[in-house]
Amino acid sequence: MRLDRLLSHLQYGTRKEVRRIIKKPRVMVDGVLIRDPGFDVPSTAVVTLDGQVLDQDLAVYYLMNKPAGVITATTDAHDRTVVDLIAEADRRPGLYPVGRLDKDTTGLLLLTNDGTLGHNLLAPGKHVPKTYEATLLVPLTPEMATQLAQGIAFKDFTSQPARVAVVPDTAAKRVRLTIGEGKYHQVKRMFKRVGNEVLALHRLSMGPLTLSATLAAGTYRPLTEDELARIKALTK
Ligand code: URA
Repeated sequence: MRLDRLLSHLQYGTRKEVRRIIKKPRVMVDGVLIRDPGFDVPSTAVVTLDGQVLDQDLAVYYLMNKPAGVITATTDAHDRTVVDLIAEADRRPGLYPVGRLDKDTTGLLLLTNDGTLGHNLLAPGKHVPKTYEATLLVPLTPEMATQLAQGIAFKDFTSQPARVAVVPDTAAKRVRLTIGEGKYHQVKRMFKRVGNEVLALHRLSMGPLTLSATLAAGTYRPLTEDELARIKALTK
């Protein structure tokens, strides 16, 4: 993690204020005085301010634009995982993805080492809405839309009524679906059940978190304070 970001995470001031502290210089990383606010601090480094050791063991929250071909897991014997996409300096013990996107699904994924928050977000009955954009094999018909919107009974669960919106100018082949649950392959199963097939799936939002077009696939950013406050409020 960048040194200025680390210090402001640890409540030593705004980015501007902590940059002044760093420029003085008052901060050492592994015994070396650092003047560069952008210095990449390894998570294992000993960081001191005026000789006092800082506790780097803070909770981190990253919003990733997951690319296709990467597994939503912490480790995998064969494939790259979403945690492999996190820079060494930004990793923390216990960092894991909250919920699961299929290997070929792209889009918004939250990663954190805050197990309580992650657990509460996925708790049954929480029903945090998640919006996906599905590219379909055949156009969505009004009958398909009605079935999706009413809820579908599967062997293991019945999907809650979903919100369905066709993306304009896509000949009804791109559809936004908002669901409350997060069952295994849920969106693909729902479209299959109504006689369609998902060719590509991209998650656009989860509760108050939305993916912006500027976050490139395979990259991530920390949640803003406002996003963090809103996601924490959801789990209260
Ligand atoms: N539903 C699916 O079918 N796949 C995903 O990756 C997420 C939701």
